[in-house]
Amino acid sequence: DMGGHDTYMHKEIHEQADAVDRALRGRIDDRFSTVHLGGLNLDARDARAVRRVKILGCGTSYHAGQIGAQMIEELARIPADAEPASEFRYRNPVVDPDTLYIAVSQSGETYDVLAAVQELKRKGARVLGLVNVVGSAIARETDGGIYVHAGPEVCVVSTKCFTNMVVSFGLLALHLGRTRDLSVADGKRIIAGLRKLPEQIAEILANEAEIEKLAGEYADAKSMMFIGRVRGYPVAREASLKLKEVSYIHAEAYPASELKHGPLALIEPAMPTVAIVPDDDLLEKNRAALEEIKARSGRILAVAHQVQEKADHTIVVPKNEDELDPILMGIPLQLLAYYTAKAMGRDIDKPRNLAKSVTVE
Ligand code: F6R
Repeated sequence: DMGGHDTYMHKEIHEQADAVDRALRGRIDDRFSTVHLGGLNLDARDARAVRRVKILGCGTSYHAGQIGAQMIEELARIPADAEPASEFRYRNPVVDPDTLYIAVSQSGETYDVLAAVQELKRKGARVLGLVNVVGSAIARETDGGIYVHAGPEVCVVSTKCFTNMVVSFGLLALHLGRTRDLSVADGKRIIAGLRKLPEQIAEILANEAEIEKLAGEYADAKSMMFIGRVRGYPVAREASLKLKEVSYIHAEAYPASELKHGPLALIEPAMPTVAIVPDDDLLEKNRAALEEIKARSGRILAVAHQVQEKADHTIVVPKNEDELDPILMGIPLQLLAYYTAKAMGRDIDKPRNLAKSVTVE
């Protein structure tokens, strides 16, 4: 039942404020400025013993893991990174007992992720799951974890589940941070930020008509460039994947500063750039990248907290805490992908060649 929406993708994009609310419900502990994650199975002493975090996933879940790794580094100051699960398991990785491994998956059935979990378990590692489907294979094989509570996701491409994964990483980062050096004041600041998310998501979605219009402006592109820096880079990668999947327009994602090391050669009016420009300590650096693109007569669509003069168009999103901004900045670009695909008459819920869960190698 699509409840009045023309596709599941559209329905699921619009379910995100409620989905995030569900991910937060019953988990916030105001008294100690932290969160309770019932199924984590990691006591304070275990949490403090973690020296490194390694996050494994595929596709969109891998991108959620990249944002999660940054949140964990920022809030808990634990070195963290994300890697595609298949790359990890094919390179005979060093499995370290002081590393906390986290497997991220919507379906909980993705073969490459499951096989990575099984390999890690065989080598004695501690593996947590960050999973949507309750009771799925990955949820069962892991030592504990977090259910992201996005609800059923029917569209082949992931939208609301991505958002809830990133929110869940925010909860985990806050939890790990509060067993370490994150102050009560910072804990309160992040909690207040998390609580603002559902309302801010609703605000972004209320802007849908503007994004539909923009999709019309860019639907003629042969190829699109997505750029971001640090917090914005995984947002750019996920937005680029979403556009490719549903519209079949070729897209590339690059860290903004890598442009001048090669991809700038591609910039011309037929290859517009989508730039993630949060109002944080890298704002001036990002503006400089916009200037470089403009100087090569590239068209620019910015997703930012304030209108960007160098951009042809800006989608303004509400500001949250710097660490949580990535959660919101990708949402208008889900709509951009959706409306671009719609304008092109694509089979949005079932893109060619793709399956909702990839249970083969
Ligand atoms: C992207 C998409 C895929 C999945 C990937 C992992 O929209 O749907 O990239 O994210 O196949 O699937 P899960 O999360 O079920 O392990």
